[in-house]
Amino acid sequence: MKTLLTGGAGYIGSHTAVAMLNAGHEVAVVDNYANSSAEAIARVEKITGKKVALYEADVADKERMMEILKAEMPDCIIHFAGLKAVGESVAKPVEYYRNNIDTTLTLLECMRELGLTSIVFSSSATVYGEDNVPPFTEDAPKGMCTNPYGWTKWMQEQMLTDAAKASAKGDDWKTPLSVVLLRYFNPVGAHESGLMGEDPQGIPNNLMPYISQVAVGRRDHLTVFGDDYDTPDGTCRRDYIHVMDLAEGHVKAAEYVIEKRKEAEARGEAAGGTEVFNLGTGSPYSVLEMVEAFGRACGHAVAYEIGARRAGDVQDSWADASKARAVLGWEASRGIDEICRDAWNWQSNNPQGYNK
Ligand code: NAD
Ligand code: WQD
Repeated sequence: MKTLLTGGAGYIGSHTAVAMLNAGHEVAVVDNYANSSAEAIARVEKITGKKVALYEADVADKERMMEILKAEMPDCIIHFAGLKAVGESVAKPVEYYRNNIDTTLTLLECMRELGLTSIVFSSSATVYGEDNVPPFTEDAPKGMCTNPYGWTKWMQEQMLTDAAKASAKGDDWKTPLSVVLLRYFNPVGAHESGLMGEDPQGIPNNLMPYISQVAVGRRDHLTVFGDDYDTPDGTCRRDYIHVMDLAEGHVKAAEYVIEKRKEAEARGEAAGGTEVFNLGTGSPYSVLEMVEAFGRACGHAVAYEIGARRAGDVQDSWADASKARAVLGWEASRGIDEICRDAWNWQSNNPQGYNK
């Protein structure tokens, strides 16, 4: 299968590139390096011994995307490209809506013009909002988002779903569109080689890179955002998923969507439509449990202080991961000890991340 990964030089995209190449698929990557560098793709090639077709481009640039997509004509696009920092999205909503919405609209226009059939989209558990009680199933109602980043995910899901619906009726679409929405829970960890991992710019927003930087001595201590929640140790609980499990989920989703189209076409039926899958483990861990697990992996305690709650945090979030298991034949196999071991291996071998 030929795949094209937008945002493929980023954290999840680069790990997915490794998983795709290891599964025998071809990979092209389009990235503008807004939050990444080409070094991640050099590491992908080093790990797999295979080549990636790499394009530096803005996915919202239609002329350029038409050229790239015409040259590649991928069987499946995996759309990772986007801005993802929750706090920054509150400060810069216009930039977030412009980038995240425009990239998706551009891809849809190009796919329609070129007759490309299939797209897998990086969505987020953030669309569930705080009114649902975990574990979240895919048909739990989408909630009110607490920040512009979350709304962009919510809106992109809707745009892709509406396009798939319209394409099934023909009109100006050459073929019905197949859309897979993957709702990630909390992606963490790194490739087991220690050559690739998360490389946040500036002060990390997320728990695991923050813990890693404290453990390696780049930061003094972690602030735990609140210990007065209604949970066993008072800290929030999340569904932390190893990034390589997540990457393998993308391989299964892309293979599934292509296979399903082939089967429908063989039966003379219309292919296409939208499917949604949670990618999570189904098992929650608290902030303090993650701090302890990381301490075991790195061999010393990770310093922390208890601070105030962070605005917008939900107390509990974890997946019902049974649909992905039943339909895609995928489930996460790596636990928190492997997550912390691999995150530590990456952080201790690359204390300043890529290129530094
Ligand atoms: P990342 O920032 O590491 O990767 C995103 C990549 O997209 C970067 O390489 C960036 O340079 C690129 N990019 C951004 N705008 C672009 C544009 N206009 N044109 C070309 N490239 C562009 O983030 P990630 O953690 O790998 O996330 C990948 C996707 O998964 C994002 O859409 C994110 O919203 C989504 N997601 C991430 C998480 C998470 O916690 N990491 C959770 C749920 C969903
Ligand atoms: C996890 C837990 C914090 C940092 C975010 C986005 C979500 C999705 C994944 C993209 C929480 C606590 C954190 C710190 C802490 N991204 N924490 N001290 O908030 O579950 O999800 O990333 O789609 O949309 O909101 O992840 O890693 O920020 O926080 O105590 O310095 O760690 O309060 O309980 P979150 P996170």
